[in-house]
Amino acid sequence: MSFIASRIQRRAFSVSARNLSKVTVLGAAGGIGQPLSLLLKLNPLVTELALYDIRGGPGVAADISHINTKSTVTGYDPTPTGLANALKGSQVVLIPAGVPRKPGMTRDDLFNTNASIVRDLAKACAESCPEANILVIANPVNSTVPIVSEIFKARGVYNPKRLFGVTTLDVVRASRFVSEIKGSDPADENITVVGGHSGVTIVPLFSQSSHPDLSANAELVNRVQFGGDEVVKAKDGAGSATLSMAMAGARMANSLLRASKGEKGVIEPTFVDSPLYKDQGIEFFSSRVELGPNGVEKIFSVGPVDATEEKLLEACFTDLKKNIDKGKSFVATNP
Ligand code: NAI
Repeated sequence: MSFIASRIQRRAFSVSARNLSKVTVLGAAGGIGQPLSLLLKLNPLVTELALYDIRGGPGVAADISHINTKSTVTGYDPTPTGLANALKGSQVVLIPAGVPRKPGMTRDDLFNTNASIVRDLAKACAESCPEANILVIANPVNSTVPIVSEIFKARGVYNPKRLFGVTTLDVVRASRFVSEIKGSDPADENITVVGGHSGVTIVPLFSQSSHPDLSANAELVNRVQFGGDEVVKAKDGAGSATLSMAMAGARMANSLLRASKGEKGVIEPTFVDSPLYKDQGIEFFSSRVELGPNGVEKIFSVGPVDATEEKLLEACFTDLKKNIDKGKSFVATNP
């Protein structure tokens, strides 16, 4: 092969390698995992989809693999190499593995079961794909994200720009609920939601929207904070939000993939290692984040808030700090 031909071939290879996007779903056979995997199969930016679950991964993969989009789909069981193979070479790992809430439960009530599931999956990620973007869906997100960071830190592979708690559903709900009140198109309702992802740690900032009056609407604020409970109650013991969550998770993954391909100005709300309130002992916080090829590109500050929202933020800080500390101490005592 001539020198020029080999150079062209090398360049073609590196361009196509850059365009390859392997996405892995851990907990792919669950209520969220299945529709999330389906939506990822429909995303042209995903070239390879790896579906892992402690049971049922290959079945879901076989089913989804018949959909006539280009990406390849492989299912993995917990064989000795299953999880590692699902993760190797992955660019984005979504973690909806874990138990969901039943009526009357808070997200924190899931801690005892989900903390160890997320810890063990984080160990596998740190081992097999330490440079991937890790998107944590398993609740309580306020604690499971710090668990992942502690596991990565202990192995010397922690990159704060690559770890995300998925809080997209909170802004999805907020814009939908506002559109119902205002009779508008939810696509036009950009509602900023900051803080964490449970109860009072979820802080919608209506004063920054085109309807500043809504910050005085306590019922609406409460609906955004506790919207997940509506679904848990309606499902009556059969789980929590799965379909809306799958949409929100797929949106977040799509945004990361777009940003990783060099698209500018991709902004999502997400719970990240954040400088915003570190001086108050809060290491992780959700706010608007610009995404880029290296993960987190820029963390936007909360911006101006009104007196009502100021109070909501205070309540958020108290709970959020406890939730974050709980995740960190879990890893300290159960490494
Ligand atoms: P599910 O019970 O339907 O599915 C969970 C799946 O995880 C099951 O297929 C199970 O086999 C699998 N799994 C359990 N342990 C595993 C392990 N060690 N490795 C791999 N897979 C494992 O639950 P669902 O409804 O899909 O919810 C999953 C999680 O997502 C829950 O913790 C729930 O609270 C959370 N969630 C988060 C939201 C968010 O906004 N971040 C919104 C809604 C739910």
